[in-house]
Amino acid sequence: MHRVTLTQYLIEQQRNYGKVSPELRLLIEIIARACKAISHAVSKGPLAGVGDAVGTHNVQGEAQKKLDVIANEVLVEANEWGGHLAAMMSEEMATPYTIPHRYPKGGFLLVMDPLDGSSNLDVNISVGTIFSVLRCPEGVTEPDEKAFLQPGVKQVAAGFAVYGAATILVLTVGNGVVGFTLDREMGSFLMTQERIVIPEDTQEFAINASNARNWEPPVKRYIDECLAGKTGPRGKDFNMRWVASMVADVYRILSRGGIFMYPRDAKYNDGRLRLMYEANPMSFIVEQAGGAATNGRQRILEIQPRALHQRVGVILGSKNEVECVTRYHLQA
Ligand code: AHG
Ligand code: MN
Ligand code: MN
Repeated sequence: MHRVTLTQYLIEQQRNYGKVSPELRLLIEIIARACKAISHAVSKGPLAGVGDAVGTHNVQGEAQKKLDVIANEVLVEANEWGGHLAAMMSEEMATPYTIPHRYPKGGFLLVMDPLDGSSNLDVNISVGTIFSVLRCPEGVTEPDEKAFLQPGVKQVAAGFAVYGAATILVLTVGNGVVGFTLDREMGSFLMTQERIVIPEDTQEFAINASNARNWEPPVKRYIDECLAGKTGPRGKDFNMRWVASMVADVYRILSRGGIFMYPRDAKYNDGRLRLMYEANPMSFIVEQAGGAATNGRQRILEIQPRALHQRVGVILGSKNEVECVTRYHLQA
């Protein structure tokens, strides 16, 4: 069976819609190549000590795993020489990484979570890589933190790879959402999902219920109503899933619908997930697939970031459910 490769898809987006410049195509292909290397490293499991802690902590005080550090290095090394980037930033780096002077600089900023869900590494559950692409502001030659602080609506592309039973790359360049599966023999990403659309309704929710005592009333109300099932106010039974790897939870929602929530609560006052490299790229993808994403009160993509590693409450997925939870927040 003939399948469209990632390269072919990007060239067609460039030709037919003017969506992808050669520079952006290079950027996305380099990220895809880095994801192949990370996928290979992840698949070695305990043989390569992938889940081992390295004794260091990232800027948010989280213990770094060996593979958090490797994945970050792979992405930085792959992206610094191509001439397509002005700078990059990552969960694993406190400040932006500027392109070394020996390389040409390009017009894009890359924002990434090199390894999402890394606490799942030692138990062999799916992890992934999330990325977001912004334009470097006009006239800025030495981008600092401020250059990155753009709302999610400014993203020109976003995507994530999930290293599960299969390695899958999900991508949007602002023209719908497509999925590619890594063909390990060929070494290429082949299109397996041509147009991903999230069903508007769902009977499946994802939330870490161990935080229930800390939830705000609108979240508590929504989950209570789901749990009440057929005889409750919603009149239908709900199922629950929580992988604890956002990439895997969001991939499931893109595949069959659902709502994902990591809301702000009494413990995580600003939410647990990070705006720039988790919430924004995932919200862009989810909206492009016909879903919705809010922090309970506001569309995530419209939030003006104040800091690189800022956190945010996240409610995303099937449109009608996200609107329901958001309505509960606005009524409260
Ligand atoms: P990371 O591994 O990049 O720090 O992100 C983990 C995130 C996200 O993937 C997941 O949804 C969430 O943390 C899980 O949090 P809990 O362990 O609190 O359930
Ligand atoms: Mn993450
Ligand atoms: Mn991470």
